[in-house]
Amino acid sequence: MRDTPATPYELIGGEEKVRELVDRFYDHMDELDEVKTIRKLHAKSLRVSREKLFLFLSGWLGGPDLYAQKYGHPMLRRRHLPFSIGKEERDQWMHCMTRAMEDMELDPALRNHLEQAFLKTADHMRNRPEKDDDGGLRIFTGPAPKG
Ligand code: HEM
Repeated sequence: MRDTPATPYELIGGEEKVRELVDRFYDHMDELDEVKTIRKLHAKSLRVSREKLFLFLSGWLGGPDLYAQKYGHPMLRRRHLPFSIGKEERDQWMHCMTRAMEDMELDPALRNHLEQAFLKTADHMRNRPEKDDDGGLRIFTGPAPKG
């Protein structure tokens, strides 16, 4: 028995399974009609995207920090600034990832945990102000708070 808990990387099943998750994710992005908006943001070939997301997730999930070793600090939000990302794009990204996780038949507790973590990260990538954002562009925000 070891005293450190298993990482999500280990729980998924290591390198081979993380690659499988990434491949399924981009296969969905390539094939599903309802995620066309984000597919169009990517290059025609998804080969580089697949490799980079695999390298990133390896470290993000608690395995070898392959992305940082190759490219330095991910600065993920900054690297997404060239692309217009709002709720629609976030939700399409999550749709592909949720489908990919379903395909993998992950343990429900692990899947739930990862879904929350992916959603938090995807939401953080949003860089397009939207009308109904809290503190966003609304000029009428409803009754003034009391006190
Ligand atoms: C919220 C919706 C998102 C959209 C629309 C989006 C879109 C994109 C696009 C168009 C690229 C450039 C093409 C490429 O190099 O693959 C990219 C790169 C990347 N994305 Fe996302 N992404 C989103 C969320 C995320 C999330 C949640 C993660 C991680 C959990 C992530 C990880 C990455 C990584 C690692 C790269 C490569 C960065 C680089 O080295 O240039 N993305 N993304």
